[in-house]
Amino acid sequence: MRSFGCQMNDYDTGRLSDLLRDAQSYERTENLEEADLVVINTCSIREKAQEKVFSDLGRIREVKKERPEMRIAVGGCVASQEGENILKRAPWVDVVFGPQTLHRVPELLDERTRTGRAQVDVSFPEIEKFDHLPTPEAHGATAFVSIMEGCSKYCSYCVVPYTRGEEISRPLVDVLVEIAQLADQGVKEVTLLGQNVNAYRGVTPEGDTADFALLLDYVGQIDGIERIRYTTSHPREFTQRIIDCYERNPKLVSHVHLPVQSGSDRVLAAMKRGYTALEYKSIVRRLKKARPGISIATDIIVGFPGETAEDFEETMKLVEDVGFDASFSFVFSPRPGTPAARLPDDTPYEVKIERLQRLQAAIDAHAQRISESMLGNLERVLVLGPARRGEGYLMARTDNNRIVNFPGSPELINRMVTVRITEVYPHSLGGELVQED
Ligand code: 5AD
Ligand code: SF4
Repeated sequence: MRSFGCQMNDYDTGRLSDLLRDAQSYERTENLEEADLVVINTCSIREKAQEKVFSDLGRIREVKKERPEMRIAVGGCVASQEGENILKRAPWVDVVFGPQTLHRVPELLDERTRTGRAQVDVSFPEIEKFDHLPTPEAHGATAFVSIMEGCSKYCSYCVVPYTRGEEISRPLVDVLVEIAQLADQGVKEVTLLGQNVNAYRGVTPEGDTADFALLLDYVGQIDGIERIRYTTSHPREFTQRIIDCYERNPKLVSHVHLPVQSGSDRVLAAMKRGYTALEYKSIVRRLKKARPGISIATDIIVGFPGETAEDFEETMKLVEDVGFDASFSFVFSPRPGTPAARLPDDTPYEVKIERLQRLQAAIDAHAQRISESMLGNLERVLVLGPARRGEGYLMARTDNNRIVNFPGSPELINRMVTVRITEVYPHSLGGELVQED
C-alpha cells in the first residue's frame, strides 16, 4: 500500500477518467478553470482528508459561481464515510459516489441533469463494479490490474473495511482476459492490485475457487507478460503455496511488499493483525529460501496507542533481523470510527516523530547497503521512458524496484534490456547498456 495514500485510489481515478471519456466524451484536464466537471477522489487511510475535501470544495464553489453549468462530483473514502452529509455542508456538489459505485458516475451525472437534483450513491453493490470496468487501454509497457477489492481484516486502526467494504474477488477468467488484452497491446509488466491480493478467491468457469498462487501461475503463462508485481499483501494469508511460486515462476519479481506494522507482539495483537513477529519472520525466511536475494518492503505504524519504548525497540530489532529494503512508515493517526481511535494514547507526538526518524534511518541504511551490493551486477530491466536527468538518458526499473538511469536511445523505451550497475545514489542507480533483448 504505497504512497499509495492510495495506489487503489490512483487506479480508480484512472478508471473513472477512461469511463467518462468512453461514456460522455470528457477529456482529462488538471486545470480547474477549463473543467466542465470536477472530480474529487480522496483517500483518508492515513490522514484527515475530511477537512481538506471541504476546503477544496469551498475553492471550487468560487469557480462554479462564475460558471454555474460546471458539475462537481465527490468520491473516495470521504464520500463513502460522509454520504449525504457532503450535500448538507456543500449543497453546490452535484454527485457523491463511493469506491464501489464509481462505474455509475456517468449515469448519476445524467440523472442530476434530468431531475435537477444532486445524486448520492455510496452503496456497496457487491461485484457490480467489476462488471463495468472499461476495456483496458495500455499506456506503455506497464499496467495495473485490479484483482480484488476491499478488506475483511478489520485491523483496529484502519478505515478501509468501512470505506471500501469486505473483500471481493474478480472472477479468474476476467482477470486473465484483461491481462491478455493488455499483453496484446504491448504490456510487459503487470501489477496485480488489491488491498489484500493474497486473500484472492476467484471463481473459475467450473465453479471452483482459484487462490492467489493459482492466479500467479496462470498469469505467468500469458505470452508477452515478462514481469509480475503485486501490491499489497497480508502476512496472514501468505501461504506456502504462494511462497512456492517464487521457486518456479521466474516472471515474479524478486520484490515483495509485505506490511508488518510493528515488531512487538503486544502491539500486533492490539492492532488485530493476527500474527506474531516470529510468524512474520518465518514467512520472510521461507521466501528468502525460495528466492535468494529477494527484497522485502514493508509498512510500519509508529506510535500506536500504548506503544512503549520497549515495544518500539522490538520493531527496530525486527527491522534489523529482516533487513527491509524499503518501508512506508507513518506515525499513527486516529481515524474516526475505528476502535484504535478510542484507545488512550499518552506518548507525546515528539517522541513518536523521534521514533519514526530512527526507524527510517535504519531502513534507509539497509536500502543503501543493498544498492551497494548491486554494484557491478548485470540486471535485466524494463525501460520506462526518458530519464529526468536529461537528454540521451533512459530510466528503467530493476526487478527489486530500483530506478536505474543509463545512456541509451529512445527506441529502447518499453523494452527489456540488460544493464550493468555502475553507480549507486541514495534514491537511484546509474548503469550502462550491455545488451538489448
Ligand atoms: N495511522 C497511520 N498509518 C495507517 N495506515 C493505515 N491506517 C493508519 C492509521 N490510522 C498505514 C498502514 C497501512 C498503510 C496503507 O497505511 O501501515 O499498511
Ligand atoms: Fe486496513 Fe488491515 Fe485491511 Fe490493510 S489489512 S486494508 S491495514 S484493515
